[in-house]
Amino acid sequence: RERCDGGATAVAHPNIALIKYWGKRDERLFLPWTDSLSMTLDIFPTTTRVRLDAAAGQDTVTLDGVPAYGQTLRRVTAFLGLVRERAGLRQRAVVQSRNTVPTGAGLASSAGGFAALAVAAAAAYGLGLDARGLSRLARRGSGSASRSVFGGFALWHAGDAAGTDAEADLASYAEPVPTAGLDAALVVAVLDAGPKEVSSRAAMRRTVATSPLYRPWARSSGEDLAEMRAALLRGDLPAVGEIAERNALGMHATMLAARPAVRYLSPATLTVLDSVLQLRREGVAAYATMDAGPNVKVLCARADAQRVAGVVRAAAPGRAVHIAGPGPGARLTGGDR
Ligand code: PMV
Repeated sequence: RERCDGGATAVAHPNIALIKYWGKRDERLFLPWTDSLSMTLDIFPTTTRVRLDAAAGQDTVTLDGVPAYGQTLRRVTAFLGLVRERAGLRQRAVVQSRNTVPTGAGLASSAGGFAALAVAAAAAYGLGLDARGLSRLARRGSGSASRSVFGGFALWHAGDAAGTDAEADLASYAEPVPTAGLDAALVVAVLDAGPKEVSSRAAMRRTVATSPLYRPWARSSGEDLAEMRAALLRGDLPAVGEIAERNALGMHATMLAARPAVRYLSPATLTVLDSVLQLRREGVAAYATMDAGPNVKVLCARADAQRVAGVVRAAAPGRAVHIAGPGPGARLTGGDR
């Protein structure tokens, strides 16, 4: 449990949920109502350096060279406060982060961001956490970040809702899930890279509090998860895709039924969804999922990814379309180890 006095640098990638996390049962501890399951991507890495500064009276945070302020700064500072509390240290930190994904656009920037911050801050403050501990820590920055600690496919356990806070906090972490020969790709269509109008946090809160569809979805999501795990173990891509697509559409249905409604899907989203249906009619196994934004991620076999990307590009002219494969877990980089 040594502190890295020279600071620590970590890199992490975003993940896209195939079984969604939507709704917290405890906002302070970031405990979700349901289990979720994702694929970590091999694109859009975030690299974050954390250095302790004994002379500083407050944390400073720089994102892509620009000083962070307001809500973003408060979120990172609160997270660092948690790390300091665990470390029993008071030194403030200098955080420098480089992100290659548009922030706040429903492209899981917070997942890669807080996974990288958790790994770098844990090393800089000498927390000596194992992967599970890092996942639990990352969860406190952004729920979905718990899954980006791991590469490939990861399952985030909601943790036992019946236990005490401390028990639930210990039980809510992500871990890798086994898959068999699944050569999957995600074609990511960036339809709108601007920040969303309603944060996922606020949208979740409103959905849980007001949507009559929330509880039914949460229940069916548990069934989706069991089927998803079996499909992953069989390496059954069409089944994985079908389950992922219905789980995502169901999540968006819960938001559409919230009062007032939260609608992240745009006309461009629906146009891409139509092109995915067309691909399926042509016999290509392609399935869509959407998060807290209009962007569409299309799950398909790696061998079909170029064709799928071509069809999606034609449906979304002028928009960036990326092909991602399963990526690595969060890790310290270079000489900081
Ligand atoms: O952890 P957050 O606040 O970025 O929430 C992410 C929620 C979704 O991306 C919509 C679903 C998910 O499981 O990643």
